Amino acid sequence: MRTVFWENDCLKLIDQRRLPEALEVVSLHTLMETAAAIRSMTVRGAPAIGAAAAFGLALAARSSQARSASELLAELEAAGETLKTTRPTAVNLAWAVERMLGTLRSTSGTPTELGKLALAEAQRIADEDVQVNRRMGVIGAELIADGDTIIHHCNTGALAVVDWGTALGVIRTAHEQGKRLHILVDETRPLLQGARLTAWELQQYGIPYEIISDNMAGYFLRMGQVQKVIFGADRIAANGDVANKIGTYMLALAAKDNGIPAYSVVPASTIDLSLAHGGLIPIEERSGAEVLNIQLAGERVTPKNAKARNPAFDVTPNRLISGIVTENGVVYPPFEVNLPKFVNPK
Ligand code: MRU
Repeated sequence: MRTVFWENDCLKLIDQRRLPEALEVVSLHTLMETAAAIRSMTVRGAPAIGAAAAFGLALAARSSQARSASELLAELEAAGETLKTTRPTAVNLAWAVERMLGTLRSTSGTPTELGKLALAEAQRIADEDVQVNRRMGVIGAELIADGDTIIHHCNTGALAVVDWGTALGVIRTAHEQGKRLHILVDETRPLLQGARLTAWELQQYGIPYEIISDNMAGYFLRMGQVQKVIFGADRIAANGDVANKIGTYMLALAAKDNGIPAYSVVPASTIDLSLAHGGLIPIEERSGAEVLNIQLAGERVTPKNAKARNPAFDVTPNRLISGIVTENGVVYPPFEVNLPKFVNPK
């Protein structure tokens, strides 16, 4: 089953708030339901929210009463703005919205024809995502050696994309190739994407793992028990600075201090060449309740009236990144020079 798919005239998503207790699929029929699902992290992970947003625009086009193509386009431009504000850091969301609008702007036809085209383009985005993940898996697996112990941050598996995974896709491919691996899964406070989702996925794939709390990563790196550190990204700036799930910066610092390579695995759509450096990437700040309560809807573990901060992402400077795996190959420093060649290969 894909994480994001179209079935029976509606958008279906695996509800990531319910895992690992229950594998449930939700059905969405409107743009506003899609925007709410992205905001609430029913669907999450940079490429997955991009694909969901594309289908959200297709839903908006199907339910539109517009009488002309230009009226429909104006409605979809507004719908695109609504979707883009749901989660600001992952550039894949804006990328998918712009790709959908670009396709529709360059085509003439009736509103019904454009609606069909919107759905076809959203489906193409979803299908391409799976192919791109498979390619990254094969390219990235070359960096992984038989017997490696790997620290993985957040969830970058099938649940974070349409299918297969980015960083976890590399691990899956290496495992399929017969390499013996052991994964130390960062639990990834506050929403526990590692402990809940990555652990659940690794269990399905039969890949050996242990969960560690985020603050244990430095210990294992220093003990010489880790050979690679691997994570995804939500946006990479033109100089190779990596915005990813909060905690990535501290993990990459500890990896560098111990001479362990840290790789980010991303589709080219996650690389934003329009931003010169990571300081320009907008960082989403979510509700403090996610920090104060130990789980998504769990019990409070902090004093009543305690306050919290909750930046959802941090920026890891390029000097801490050993390489960036894309579907077009592995990019090495200097990233300013090399990234453009991999984003737009000849
Ligand atoms: O806040 P989330 O869970 O959507 O954040 C997801 C991550 O940070 C992932 O590691 C990232 O999207 C890249 S994975 C495909």
